[in-house]
Amino acid sequence: MGEHLTVGRVAELAGVSVRTLHHYHQIGLVQPSARTGVGYRAYSPGDVERLREVLGYRRLGFGLRAIADLVDDPDTDAVAHLRRLRGLLVEQRDQAAATVTAIDKELEARAMGIRTTPEDQLKVFGAQLYESIGSAYPATRRTEPRIAARIWEALGDARTVLNVGAGTGSYEPPDRDVTAVEPSAVMRAQRPAGAAPCIAASAECLPFADQSFDAAMAVSTVHHWPDPVAGLREMRRVARRVVVFTYDASTTGWLQRFWLTRDYLPEFADLLADWPSLADLTHAIGGRAEPVLIPWDCEDGFFEAHWRRPEDYLDERVRRAVSVWTRVGPQAEQRAVEGLRADLSSGRWAERNRDLVALDAAELGLRLLVA
Ligand SMILES: C[S@@+](CC[C@H](N)C(=O)[O-])C[C@H]1O[C@@H](n2cnc3c(N)ncnc32)[C@H](O)[C@@H]1O
Repeated sequence: MGEHLTVGRVAELAGVSVRTLHHYHQIGLVQPSARTGVGYRAYSPGDVERLREVLGYRRLGFGLRAIADLVDDPDTDAVAHLRRLRGLLVEQRDQAAATVTAIDKELEARAMGIRTTPEDQLKVFGAQLYESIGSAYPATRRTEPRIAARIWEALGDARTVLNVGAGTGSYEPPDRDVTAVEPSAVMRAQRPAGAAPCIAASAECLPFADQSFDAAMAVSTVHHWPDPVAGLREMRRVARRVVVFTYDASTTGWLQRFWLTRDYLPEFADLLADWPSLADLTHAIGGRAEPVLIPWDCEDGFFEAHWRRPEDYLDERVRRAVSVWTRVGPQAEQRAVEGLRADLSSGRWAERNRDLVALDAAELGLRLLVA
């Protein structure tokens, strides 16, 4: 049968179980397309190549559904997959090395009787959430043009712009000289070809001299920073103007206004428990806060985006691209989704939220901080 390999042989060579290979076969991820002389299924060289890509992405922590999208992409050939895998593995290695160094430093400090601050201890792990959930991000997260227009207007005549917590590059103004900062390797690897150069760093410790940029921007990221106030002060230090898109956790009113948190996911309030007030955030940059209404057909799938399209929250892809759902845990998520599903089909949701249908935009606590 030439270069064709049996299931057992492939399992042995790749170090995975036959059960795993059968599972990949059943879900259509890697199918042994050849036959042995006696009629058993076998892996052709092409099947083996695909399996190698699947195992590579698996090792990087991608989910099977995300892997299927990646390996089915007709525009990515074997060499492009190898290049991407290599880049991601190198990033992961570098990040592990940085974590080891940080741990060594803390061990040294402890041996000398010095206690590191809680902020220092957490900084090392700040980007880890996006290392695990980041691959689901591009499915529904993109630039919303009406919010982008507000951000770009607030940047004024800035020519050089630093985008902190840049992710995959949404909201980066196309007509300015942008430098991006993003701690997660998975997010950096998903930036489109031709996107602004991106540096692996965190907001709390920006590797730039004072006043190196005309402006610094941060979009939907500050709530992920271990120390938001320190990060905002850093933005203020390196840039003359600061623009931040975030939300106001200090008013309880909007928690009650958004039906998703009010009626289905009250656990969201716990995530905000020790979040600095809007006053603390604006104070850190010495600026002001402006409300940003969310259009009913918002194109960027952040948590509040689907406020007038409740069925969207039943879609796993919509939820996986928003960290809130991972952070509340699977039990709360399942309960919220099942409750919503039941209320949508019984008409209870529509009855309770009758007034929303007439609105084109909603005030849900989103704010633009400008300094
Ligand atoms: C919801 S995404 C937003 C990405 C992008 N700004 C956008 O609007 O699509 C949050 C990003 O913040 C990044 N992040 C997490 N901790 C950070 C930190 N300490 N400093 C800077 N960015 C951080 C995450 O890795 C992630 O890419």
